[in-house]
Amino acid sequence: MNPTPEPAPTLKQLLAFYLESGVDCALTDEPVNRLAEPDVVPAAAPRETAAPRAVREIPAATPPIPRNETAVAPEAAINSAREAARTAPTLEALRALLENFGGCALKHTATRLVFADGNPQARIMFVGEAPGRDEDIEGLPFVGRSGKLLDRMIAAIGLDRSKAYIANVIPWRPPGNRTPTPQETQICLPFIQRQIELVNPDVLVTLGNPSTQTLLQTREGIMKTRGRWFDYDTGTRTIRAIATFHPAYLLRSPSYKRMSWQDLRAIAKALVQTGSPSS
Ligand code: URA
Repeated sequence: MNPTPEPAPTLKQLLAFYLESGVDCALTDEPVNRLAEPDVVPAAAPRETAAPRAVREIPAATPPIPRNETAVAPEAAINSAREAARTAPTLEALRALLENFGGCALKHTATRLVFADGNPQARIMFVGEAPGRDEDIEGLPFVGRSGKLLDRMIAAIGLDRSKAYIANVIPWRPPGNRTPTPQETQICLPFIQRQIELVNPDVLVTLGNPSTQTLLQTREGIMKTRGRWFDYDTGTRTIRAIATFHPAYLLRSPSYKRMSWQDLRAIAKALVQTGSPSS
């Protein structure tokens, strides 16, 4: 005897399922039948990325490129990002380059570019992973709940946003706040590297695992890297860099705030050693 088929889910049940899975925004007005799309070629894995195996595993998660946009092969996109970022003489030029850069599909699903906040002359620069929903709406990094905690962390070392510079490795919100793919990270990397070089801070603080692993070229997890000093080579100078917990992680696991406080004290000390903390 055939089992009774499950009743089809209602629209309300489907929406609840999507929401629970982290899908909180629509990418297009019309549904797309991916099975009937022979022309959507999975992106080729780049030859020289930091994590080639992971790159090969993820292409299905790459958001669709709208029909009127040209798909740029990841390797070509990484090369063109490198070329473009190198030529930006100022932060304004770098922002303009990013506004016009077509090599990262995240741009097409995000509302706007989230370039930076704070003071480009600051001696300290904080770098997170990627903007979330609030940042995507406002066009500024760290303005949501984790941003409020970051403000308190910055205040704990006697500073505020007028004396710090804040950016992300990825300047566009990944849809539904999903984790950026290794390809997307590699494509955006030359831009944040150039941004760090142009800001030229005395101290660079990486917030959380993705930013730390990408910028400080380590495979170790944040539990091992936090509170440790690294040499970060901007290409023109070596600066002191330190990893600490991402504020979003501290919101979920407040017991780690004690360690975060230790990191902040080390950061304050380093600022004093290399100049005046209020400059
Ligand atoms: N998380 C980040 O990594 N960056 C932001 O800008 C906001 C949240």
